[in-house]
Amino acid sequence: MQALFVENEGMQCGYCTPGQIMSGIALKSELERGAPSNVSSDLTVAPRLSRDEIKERLSGNLCRCGAHNGIIDAVAAYVGGEEQ
Ligand code: FES
Repeated sequence: MQALFVENEGMQCGYCTPGQIMSGIALKSELERGAPSNVSSDLTVAPRLSRDEIKERLSGNLCRCGAHNGIIDAVAAYVGGEEQ
């Protein structure tokens, strides 16, 4: 996960990075369990990886440096699914 943050330019100052990484790991666990989020369109099927799902599940961590696109790319690569 740390290497993916570096590869995808998912950080600048690094202040938010520990929380983003912890949330990314939790996100993968949530998706594996089929836990829906506030943006899941259908609560009867397991949510699929999408940028909206990643944004929602990381929403508790704000990056003041504006590295969100790289953070989302890093987490998507970590989860390893197809983005929609
Ligand atoms: S990298 Fe600086 S706050 Fe996110």
